[in-house]
Amino acid sequence: MSDDLGVRLVGDGLGVPCVDGIERSYLSLDAAASTNALPAVASRVQEFLPWYSSVHRGAGWKSQLATAAYEDARTAFTAFAGRTDTDDVAIICRNSTEAINHLAYRLGLRPDDVVVTTVVEHHANLLPWARFARRRYVECDASGTFGVDAVAAVLDEQPHPRLLAVTGASNVTGWVPPIDEIIAAAHDRGVPVMVDAAQLAPHRPLPRAADYLVWSGHKMYAPFGAGVLIGPRATFANGDPYLAGGGAVDLVDLDEVVWTDPPDREEAGSPNVLGAVALHAATDELNRLGWDAIRAHDDDIAHRLSEGLSGINGVRLLGPSAQPGALPVASFVVDGVAHALVAARLSAEHAIGVRHGCFCAHPYLLRLLGLTSPEVADYRAAVLYGDRRRMPGAVRASAGIDTTRQDIDRFLDAVARIAGGGPPPMPYDQDEHTGDFWPRTDDPAWSSPGRRLGAACARG
Ligand code: ALA
Repeated sequence: MSDDLGVRLVGDGLGVPCVDGIERSYLSLDAAASTNALPAVASRVQEFLPWYSSVHRGAGWKSQLATAAYEDARTAFTAFAGRTDTDDVAIICRNSTEAINHLAYRLGLRPDDVVVTTVVEHHANLLPWARFARRRYVECDASGTFGVDAVAAVLDEQPHPRLLAVTGASNVTGWVPPIDEIIAAAHDRGVPVMVDAAQLAPHRPLPRAADYLVWSGHKMYAPFGAGVLIGPRATFANGDPYLAGGGAVDLVDLDEVVWTDPPDREEAGSPNVLGAVALHAATDELNRLGWDAIRAHDDDIAHRLSEGLSGINGVRLLGPSAQPGALPVASFVVDGVAHALVAARLSAEHAIGVRHGCFCAHPYLLRLLGLTSPEVADYRAAVLYGDRRRMPGAVRASAGIDTTRQDIDRFLDAVARIAGGGPPPMPYDQDEHTGDFWPRTDDPAWSSPGRRLGAACARG
């Protein structure tokens, strides 16, 4: 086990103000949402910037260089997904959400088609399917997980599904489903599989057998706006692309269009070459570190995090975060303290950044929290009137390759103080509209009007 990979991200160690007037080193435990850039990513972007130019749209030297950098990145993404010996294409898009919307549009689904998905998914892997097909769900058990048999049973229901869309790892609990077995069970039944690898990609090798894969640069140390959709070329060879516009066509007349071949057919508009260069650098860096080292570090940090939280009186860990093999992601509640207040106090008093709320996974959170129907009806009614104060939820700590044992210990110490029941050093007020808590203070660092925009974590 390795507690420190020796990796520091751009911005690690920056000081931020706390409400006691002391500046503390900022500790981000929000890697499941967004990661800062690896230094190797930032320097590759810096090196490329003077050479920035149009991709696939210019005859000049710089355009040729930018085009080559963009296409090199595409090749690297295919290799990162283990697809060197297939005819799969990598489509470069903004992020996993866009990639799933893109795929949902391109699969040619009909309203009566069924897509099987699960209740543990991020909204990005629930909502796009509803626009084009019917959804059938794999339920989770009380521990927040499901097995291959549960997936197989839902796949076996009629009508026969067109697709299984499943997460590679939960953004809420860090649970890693037995994805290879799940894919095999789907393939045994003739059902193709799309894996939402947004959480998995920075932590584990991508499942080679998945028919479709999506992941995001902003969760893997390349926050420059690029993500990837991988799938068989044939899926994108016919029909209208998701985006229509320049770069996606061979011929256009005022009443005619001849689309070009994939992947360009799927990438109308000027491509995000900076994002692609950044994400390419991130894949290189993860390959250099090696999955064994990353996994050993993850296991060490995940164990310390979940054991530590479980050992604090008044703290309840949600779901399977403590399971061996889970990612270093832990969602928890503190008895008698609202999740939004815990997160606000971690920030204002301890300079620790976490997320709270439902983590863009409302159905999963409701199950993990065990809410009754009247409780759900109650907060729903309030939210529909614009009052998010009673929005249910949890607090989530999520670690990345830069997280150390000392970081986890600092976080656990702060949670123990909050859960210990002592009053906060000052009152906190809750904003009805956002559900955020704010320390009541004249300290300009915490009271300036701009800061009142808040985090608005309650939305998801
Ligand atoms: N999917 C991101 C999260 O879990 C936004 O926070």
